[in-house]
Amino acid sequence: MNLETLILAAGKGTRMKSKLPKVLHKVCGKPMVQYVIESAKEVGSMREIVVIGSGAELVEKTITGVEFVIQKEQLGTAHAVLSAKEKFTESKGNVLILCGDTPLLTAESLKKFTDAHENSNCAATVLTAEMPDATGYGRVIREADGSLKKIVEDKDANDDEKKIREVNAGVYCFDIQKLFGALEEVGNDNAQGEYYLPDVLPILKAKGEQVGAFKAEYCIETIGINNRSQLAAADKALRMRKEQALMEAGVTIIDPNTTFIDGDVVIGQDTIIYPNTYIEGKTVIGEDCEIGPNVRFSNMTVGNGVKVQFSYCHEAEILDGVTLGPYVHIRPGTTIGENVKIGNFVEVKNSNIGDGSKLPHLQYIGDTDMGSGVNVGCGTVTCNYDGKKKYRTTIGDNAFIGCNTNLVAPVNVGEGAYIGAGSTITKDVPRNNLAVARAKQVNIEVWNDKRK
Ligand code: UD1
Ligand code: CA
Repeated sequence: MNLETLILAAGKGTRMKSKLPKVLHKVCGKPMVQYVIESAKEVGSMREIVVIGSGAELVEKTITGVEFVIQKEQLGTAHAVLSAKEKFTESKGNVLILCGDTPLLTAESLKKFTDAHENSNCAATVLTAEMPDATGYGRVIREADGSLKKIVEDKDANDDEKKIREVNAGVYCFDIQKLFGALEEVGNDNAQGEYYLPDVLPILKAKGEQVGAFKAEYCIETIGINNRSQLAAADKALRMRKEQALMEAGVTIIDPNTTFIDGDVVIGQDTIIYPNTYIEGKTVIGEDCEIGPNVRFSNMTVGNGVKVQFSYCHEAEILDGVTLGPYVHIRPGTTIGENVKIGNFVEVKNSNIGDGSKLPHLQYIGDTDMGSGVNVGCGTVTCNYDGKKKYRTTIGDNAFIGCNTNLVAPVNVGEGAYIGAGSTITKDVPRNNLAVARAKQVNIEVWNDKRK
């Protein structure tokens, strides 16, 4: 049966106390609404429409692959759905309604829910959950025979109703035609003066329709994020889920509690992740690597057998067998070739480092194309900036750069060239030449020592 999805994401998210629209707050590295959209796509939804209002421009800019509807004033969840009515005039079948603030809901659970609805004769089915603490949620009121009677919002609930722990998860499946046939009858005579979507359920019942309530297996999946502590709880839950999946696939995570891996990260078999490590964005790591302790990777591509400790690497590529750290900063646009060794306190920016080259300590290499087998002495600096423009340095294969060399770009050091320690190189060095560019040492035997 045709399934379309409507995601409610127009709310201000007042309880977040944020300048950023609530649904753009990141959970495990991704805006929370993104998870909801992905789950909807996974259960076979044909199109996803997102209702936006607060911060609409920013949401439209950030989220792609969906249609948007603007709800100008946020008058409640029923009003949010109504504002999307025109999108459904041609539609038949079912609409899955989700809230943009429930990112933990898995596609598997959602599929069980949509299947249950499709296999029933219900005009509407609502997803419910048994919560250890139901505060803040709408409570599910059932009839004596166990069928759904209505949902009462936390702010409208009396003391007895507040004791109910079965809550509305904010996920619904409706027959499209029947939903829009009843929605305009929802009023706003309640504690918040809002048009509540759950109120359409008793209206449908009064019209003789069947309404179902499907209880979720795992209540944790249905938590809605309304404030920053729920944001932290959701982040933790998603992170643990990700780490569990990685461990099941053969990755060792020494301490899952102090390891932070974003949802889209890929890690190969037998790689070991040490504590205090952050692996973010679209990072891909190969097999048999040792990452951490204290590493931050952001959008990195990392080969097999790579070892990195106490370092920050972002928007760059590291090929097989590389050893990095401690205290290395690999900046965007860099490719580190196979079996390269980079040691203490080294920064590499927008550069290509050829296979097997060594940068063991205290270097700044920027805008450089370095060949393979190059040895770079301690304290070497590429002087790539004249205050206005950046210039490139090229270093040929097997060159030897002596300690404390300044390479004033643009400059080329030929293949196999040798630079004497302490040189400031301003002119190209031809291949296999020795360049020495420093003042000659003078030893003076007779001189006036003022200390005497
Ligand atoms: C809602 C449900 C509640 C349920 C809970 C589950 C209603 C009235 N209550 O409460 O029964 O237990 O979710 O998490 O539906 N939104 C709009 N436009 C609006 C108002 C809200 O798009 O005018 C969006 C919000 O951006 C949010 C979602 O709808 O993504 C839910 O709104 P929120 O204010 O968080 O509702 P809750 O109070 O959590
Ligand atoms: Ca909510």
